[in-house]
Amino acid sequence: MHDIIRKLEEMRERARLGGGKRRIDAQHAKGKLTARERIDLLLDEKSFEEWDMFVEHRCTDFAMQKQTVPGDGVVTGYGTINGRLVFVFSQDFTVFGGSLSESHAEKICKIMDQAMKVGAPVIGLNDSGGARIQEGVASLAGYAEVFQRNVLASGVVPQISTVMGPCAGGAVYSPAMTDFIFMVKDTSYMFVTGPDVVKTVTHEDVSHEELGGAATHTTRSGVADGAFENDLDAMLQLRRFIDFLPANNREGPPRRPTSDDAGRVEDSLDTLVPDNPNRPYDMKELIEKVVDEGDFFELQPEFAANIIIGFGRMEGSTIGIVANQPMVLAGCLDIDSSVKAARFVRFCDCFNIPIVTFVDVPGFLPGTAQEYGGIIRHGTKLLYAFAEATVPKVTVITRKAYGGAYDVMSSKHLRGDVNLAWPSAEIAVMGPSGAVEIIFRQEAGNKKKIAKRTKEYRERFASPFIAGHRGFIDDVIMPHNTRRRLCRSLKMLAGKKLDNPWKKHGNIPL
Ligand code: HXC
Repeated sequence: MHDIIRKLEEMRERARLGGGKRRIDAQHAKGKLTARERIDLLLDEKSFEEWDMFVEHRCTDFAMQKQTVPGDGVVTGYGTINGRLVFVFSQDFTVFGGSLSESHAEKICKIMDQAMKVGAPVIGLNDSGGARIQEGVASLAGYAEVFQRNVLASGVVPQISTVMGPCAGGAVYSPAMTDFIFMVKDTSYMFVTGPDVVKTVTHEDVSHEELGGAATHTTRSGVADGAFENDLDAMLQLRRFIDFLPANNREGPPRRPTSDDAGRVEDSLDTLVPDNPNRPYDMKELIEKVVDEGDFFELQPEFAANIIIGFGRMEGSTIGIVANQPMVLAGCLDIDSSVKAARFVRFCDCFNIPIVTFVDVPGFLPGTAQEYGGIIRHGTKLLYAFAEATVPKVTVITRKAYGGAYDVMSSKHLRGDVNLAWPSAEIAVMGPSGAVEIIFRQEAGNKKKIAKRTKEYRERFASPFIAGHRGFIDDVIMPHNTRRRLCRSLKMLAGKKLDNPWKKHGNIPL
């Protein structure tokens, strides 16, 4: 018995050492933490229950039977974050570069299966050289097993990836199928084909960082939802992020006690919208002033910044926020912003998170780049997402709500539950100058007449009242009361039940 216990301790010690001190030092020298150090930071103290510490690979090619490390390059198990259950896998770059063997994949699949059974999020900490080259197709099969589970888990439990080292080739597709991807600045990269292949095929000279670093994916491609400063920051932010998410699709959003008064009045909001309709203002100011304690977790802040998405809380309960940002492209909808917001709306709908939408949108962005790029197909994604969502939907129009974009932005017609407008709202087919240019084209040369027509149009249509007469908005509210009105609306909607017609699944334009 004593021998067994000693052996157990020895094996645990070997597993904890991963690829050995030299490789751990190398990992630290790159400014990266080890797989276990990351888990220690991520989970509540002493909450981690590790599984499959003794699993080893079964490969015998390339004399691999002489090189085994217990755990086989990935640490898996479950624990808690602020007392709430999560499953986690953390790839260990010190063991065969964190590469994925058949056994390594089986470990990941095991915790994914268990997370699905008990209804808890899966967090992946990715740091891997990709398929274990010595294992060939067995490794590819392992990836496919993980991919299949990513798809089955989608919409059932939240899946979050944090890329903390290399993530290349087909390996990128597992994080890509999870709900959120975060990256660590300077030490992580993701690409389908690396710089060498790019050079051979397209003759472009590009570094790892330029091709797939955190800056690239948070500003240009929109692949990642956020970039953190380093491993420590990443784990702490991830803890904060998980607090916003429900554990699964059968639960409501988590509640967190707050001392922020639901009736809090914000007088400064009365002057947020400038008198000049062409002057921008910062929609984030509104968001931060209405959510509990100003705590807003923004996603993709530097990509398609003409739309803002992220999580906040109202009276302690998580809400998803979608808002046009007049500071960027005047808040127009374009391809990137439509896709960005559509995916977020669908996440909220999967996981019973009410959606609050702030609208100031002059329309869809014109231009050949947008039309050739398929704005018709991509813009529809946001329309489709809002229209299919059955969670509580509350909309506040702060200023412009023009044309098709008015319809798209969670309008009454797409089953918006509570649609409110500030007195500064302008709900119309288009802005006054554009409208007059078309309706009174024959008067185009007469500046005085056009100015008069524009003034008339503005007075008659650039207001919330025409929509109000038809019941397309439920009320015109004072900006300073926005938080109170939102809290009341969300409370009223807490028991909302709405089902879409039975179908296998819809066919969202892709
Ligand atoms: C086995 C691997 C490995 C891999 C790295 N290692 N990648 N072992 N399979 N895929 C091992 C190295 O041999 C080395 O072992 C250790 O991990 C660290 O690697 P280094 O090269 O020393 O580290 P670094 O210089 O930081 O470079 C990291 C790297 C590089 C950029 C990831 O290792 C690399 O290019 N690896 C190969 C990447 C690759 O081609 N993967 C397959 C992609 S195709 P020692 O013993 O020296 O410490 C793919 C398909 C997935 O993934 C398909 C899914 C459908």
